[in-house]
Amino acid sequence: MTTLENLSCPIDSAPLSRYERSLKCEHGHTYDLAKTGYVNLLPVQNKRSKDPGDSKDMVAARQSFLNQDCYFPVVEAILSSWPKKALVDGIRVLDAGCGEGYYLGKIGKILHDQKINIERVGLDISKWAVAAASKRDKSVSWLVGSNASLPVPDERFDVILCLFGFPIFCEFSRALSKSGLLLLVESGPDHLIELRKILYPSIHDYKPTHSDGVANFELLSESSENYSFALNSQVDIQNLLSMTPHIHKASYDGREAVKQLESISLTADIKLRWYQKIEEVNHA
Ligand SMILES: C[S@@+](CC[C@H](N)C(=O)[O-])C[C@H]1O[C@@H](n2cnc3c(N)ncnc32)[C@H](O)[C@@H]1O
Ligand SMILES: [Zn+2]
Repeated sequence: MTTLENLSCPIDSAPLSRYERSLKCEHGHTYDLAKTGYVNLLPVQNKRSKDPGDSKDMVAARQSFLNQDCYFPVVEAILSSWPKKALVDGIRVLDAGCGEGYYLGKIGKILHDQKINIERVGLDISKWAVAAASKRDKSVSWLVGSNASLPVPDERFDVILCLFGFPIFCEFSRALSKSGLLLLVESGPDHLIELRKILYPSIHDYKPTHSDGVANFELLSESSENYSFALNSQVDIQNLLSMTPHIHKASYDGREAVKQLESISLTADIKLRWYQKIEEVNHA
C-alpha cells in the first residue's frame, strides 16, 4: 500500500489529506488516485506541453532495457556510495525523475532485505513513466509532478536521488531536511562510447556538469562506476538507443548504421556525486 502522506497541493501548497481514493486540500482542490495507486499532482497550468516528459514508447523501451539488469551495477554503486549515516530505518527518500521506477524498486528491495526500511517517493513529469512505476512496486508513493515545483512541504525528504535526470537545485534544497543529501548520477566521458562512435562522425570533448559547484549544496563525494556489458539483439540495441538523448541528436546515417547491428559490447561509465544541503546562515 502506498502512503501518499505529507504532500502539498500543487496549486496553493496547502497540505493534502487522504479521503479514500483521493487527496484534497482545504481549498477544495481534489486529486484522484489512479487505479494502480499513483496520483497526478501536475496541474494543467504547470505543463509546458500536453504530454510532458518521456513518451509511452520511451518508457516501454527503458523498462525493457532496465529489466535486463545491465544497469544493476549502478544500483550497487548507488548503495555502496550512500553515506552510512543516511542509510537507516525510516529515512525519507525522493527519486526526482524516477522514470519507470527501476532504481527505487531495486533500492527498496535490497535495503528491506538488510532490514532497513525507508520511505520511498518517486516523482516524474511523465504520466506514462509513473503509471509503469506504479505497477512495479506498490510500496512506493508514486507521483506525477515536476522537479521545478515539488508538491511537498519544506524539508520533506532526507535524501533526493536525481538519476540521469533534470535537477532543480533550489527546489531540491527546499524539499530537503537540514543537512539532507542529494545524489546526482550522470554519464561519464566513456559512457556508451562504442555506440556513440557509430552514431556520430566525431565525439565531442566531455564537459563535466556543475564543475563549479552547486548553489546551496556542498560536494561530499564523487565516484565513477565503469564496466562492460553486451547487447545481443537489434531490439535491445534500439531499446537502449530510445532511452538516450542520442535517438534525437544523432544523424540519419548514424541511426541507420546502428540498425544494422545484431550485437554490441558497450562500456558503462557512470559518475555519482553526493551533495549535502548547506544551511543558510541567519545574520539577523
Ligand atoms: C533519462 S530519464 C531517467 C529516468 C530514471 N531516473 C532512470 O534513470 O531510469 C529522465 C526522466 O526525467 C523525466 N523528467 C523530465 N523533466 C522532468 C521534470 N521537470 N520533473 C520531473 N521529471 C522530469 C522524464 O520524464 C524521464 O522519465
Ligand atoms: Zn489546493
